[in-house]
Amino acid sequence: MKFANDFLFGAATASYQVEGAWDQDGKGETNWDQFTKIPGKTFEGTNGDVAIDHYNRYKEDVALMAEMGLESYRFSISWARIFPNGRGEINQKGIDFYNNLIDECLKYGIVPFVTLYHWDLPLALEKEGAWLNKNTVDAYIDYAKVCFNAFGDRVKHFITFNETVVFASLGYMAGAHPPGIENDPKKYFQVTHNVFYAHARAIIEYKKLNQFGAIGLSHVFCPAFAVDDSPENKFAEMHANQYGINWFFDPILKGEYPEYVIKQLEESDFLPDWTLEELAIIKQAAPLNDFMGLNYYQPMRVERVSGEAQEQIHSLENSTGSLGNASFDNVYKTVKMEDKKYTKWDWEISPESFVTGLEILKDNYGQIKLYITENGLGDEDPIIEGEVCDIPRINFLNDHLNAVKEGINRGVHIKGFYSWSAIDLLSWLNGYKKQYGFIYVDHNNGLERKKKASFHWYKGVIETRGATLNR
Ligand code: BG6
Repeated sequence: MKFANDFLFGAATASYQVEGAWDQDGKGETNWDQFTKIPGKTFEGTNGDVAIDHYNRYKEDVALMAEMGLESYRFSISWARIFPNGRGEINQKGIDFYNNLIDECLKYGIVPFVTLYHWDLPLALEKEGAWLNKNTVDAYIDYAKVCFNAFGDRVKHFITFNETVVFASLGYMAGAHPPGIENDPKKYFQVTHNVFYAHARAIIEYKKLNQFGAIGLSHVFCPAFAVDDSPENKFAEMHANQYGINWFFDPILKGEYPEYVIKQLEESDFLPDWTLEELAIIKQAAPLNDFMGLNYYQPMRVERVSGEAQEQIHSLENSTGSLGNASFDNVYKTVKMEDKKYTKWDWEISPESFVTGLEILKDNYGQIKLYITENGLGDEDPIIEGEVCDIPRINFLNDHLNAVKEGINRGVHIKGFYSWSAIDLLSWLNGYKKQYGFIYVDHNNGLERKKKASFHWYKGVIETRGATLNR
């Protein structure tokens, strides 16, 4: 089976990870501009001041994407380029930049798929309490409306937020992302609710404009599986999925939070502060989602914890948390299994779990349209005789595209696949040593771009609509 003609083969990036130009043309400072300057927060103190200078080289980059045959480019808008102070006066040069980028994509027939929030928050709002402060939601809605009005004539796919679980948990539980707070479940759950409320309001505003495009949001999709069939580990699996899947997908797609989690948060006093009006808006917005974006990298293997809570291990090496850590409520822990394959960063490689997970989603949420908005392999690519031979990436993407195909065969409604990432970029915590792209960027040679083996491979996949994939 080939992929249908209207299935989009894409690749993704995010503003902070590629743009650089951190203070160019009136852009305001962001939480990440500040956070990465705190000693010890990132690998070798790397930051996105220059990144890969996509802001100034976007024409060259989009031309390379076009040469690869890319059908869609997912990128994010840096809020602080549009509103340097988060709200108030608009910076026209920021609008101009994204207009130019969008037009450059369209020149080659590349569909722009635009994320409004991929973690870089204007510093002024961070200082007011970021997503803990409900005024940030109002500021976000103003920002979103400006983007819809400025770009919506040509952008027909908007993603409101990227991976709430990551910026909320790393920001308020692991302390590894801004604002660097550790072990504060009350704040963590509050942030998730405020973001879902902002998403709901943004969707409602977008629909009022009758732009006839599609809007949704992207979640991490990390299904949990018990290490064996014992009742206690099956319980751990159910519990992990309630907190990892249902808490995130239910409010978006069903318009209500899962009872199982609510009850426990009430008992532990971690329930977010929400109003009936906010809950009603979340309910009203649920049927308005046009699609759901899934960022799939790996599943999670879980085991029931017994005994005293252990200290959490967090390292720069593993932004999503080290294997072996217990959940915040000490119900389960993640496990590295002997018979599984892992990347150099200990992320499990499991296209099979992707297929199983997609079926779980279909059973829970029905036929919502899905885009795989991220999937890819973080690796240190070998350079052999001057060529970047990223064969493991080719194998990884080959197997995950086969998984997507299998999902489609089983009735899951998937309309596109975005590899993470289009081009090598700044890994939030791992600097430039963890690569994901089809295009290599030489940091020792003026950021020169170079096509990797995977560039040619993906071009072939797109041209043949998947017929060249190895089964
Ligand atoms: C996703 C993010 O969580 O994972 C990306 O949306 C990120 O922004 C990607 O780069 C890979 O993460 P890491 O930590 O390996 O760079």
